[in-house]
Amino acid sequence: MSGTTRLHVGGASPYDVLIGEDLHGELPPMLGDDVRRVAVVHATELGHLAEPVAARLRDAGYDVTPIMLPEGEAAKTAAVAVEAWETLGAAGFTRSDAVVTVGGGATTDMGGFIAATWLRGVRVVHVPTTLLAMVDAAVGGKTGMNTTAGKNLVGSFHEPAGVLCDLTTLRSLPRAELVSGFGEVIKCGFIADPTILELVERDPVAALDVDGPVLRELVERSVQVKIDVVVGDLKETRGTDASAGEWPGREVLNYGHTLAHAIERAEDYRMRHGEAVAIGCVFVAELARITGRLDATTAERHRSVFAAVGLPTSYAGAGFEDLRAAMAVDKKTRGDTLRFVVLDGLARPVVLSGPGEDDLRAAHATIEGVHR
Ligand code: GLY
Repeated sequence: MSGTTRLHVGGASPYDVLIGEDLHGELPPMLGDDVRRVAVVHATELGHLAEPVAARLRDAGYDVTPIMLPEGEAAKTAAVAVEAWETLGAAGFTRSDAVVTVGGGATTDMGGFIAATWLRGVRVVHVPTTLLAMVDAAVGGKTGMNTTAGKNLVGSFHEPAGVLCDLTTLRSLPRAELVSGFGEVIKCGFIADPTILELVERDPVAALDVDGPVLRELVERSVQVKIDVVVGDLKETRGTDASAGEWPGREVLNYGHTLAHAIERAEDYRMRHGEAVAIGCVFVAELARITGRLDATTAERHRSVFAAVGLPTSYAGAGFEDLRAAMAVDKKTRGDTLRFVVLDGLARPVVLSGPGEDDLRAAHATIEGVHR
């Protein structure tokens, strides 16, 4: 593999997403000329990935302040934010200074939130180190933290100054985390870019090879899907009034996520996100088939593509009533009406509002542990 791919994100605050290897040298131009201090935000456990970034920044003359976060979602609390703000204050961070995040989705969410709130917003560059963060969390400017009432209930839109997807970091990613990232990659295939599905189907082993060209193409294609969506609807306002047949806006990225969030909740967030997304996508594909939108072949294709990379396609850990209740508090729900992104055909996403309870039950029955 060689060369760096540069994907441009247009809009009011344009930036680039770079995909390649050994990209640390790209950080200074992304940060810009006026930055003196840089906070490198990372999970304590990822010091081995953050230190080379910090060293490169020090070599380039920046004053570097490390901010270490607890692992995973535990990073996304108000107490962690307060501590980070105090660190920035003590180090004298000004509005022309910057944050660099190094890590997975929780780190980009929380580091982005710290950058968005310090002095009402300083620059942030994301260096995602998981497949999931590369193809989803790092791009599009969503930042957030959790409260006891739920995940990502506090946050803002704060677009990065740039994103560096250094594919060499995937070499040290645990296999199950890499596979989990395919939940979002394959989702992008169904909602917008079927070539992704063909690449996975043709050779799943090659798709999962972190040193091979197929995974790189899958990352590039998935990031491009995300860019196209966020450029069309950065603040997720387009889909609010969408009726059947209209483009759902940024909500399209939540394909499969309504049930996925319910499953994650039922599992007390111990199931990997991409695994829950895979099950959730199979569920909405079945819902679309049962409600007469999607052909049986494309619905079944969901099962086969996710299974090809080792993702689950069924779930028996909680019953319909529990999952139905959890879906009722999904962020897409309006009043008592459940809303799902479904497919009218391959890569033709629409919003389905208020499906019948019998249809929901029937779709759920198909994922209740029968298929694997
Ligand atoms: N992860 C969904 C979004 O960025 O909108």
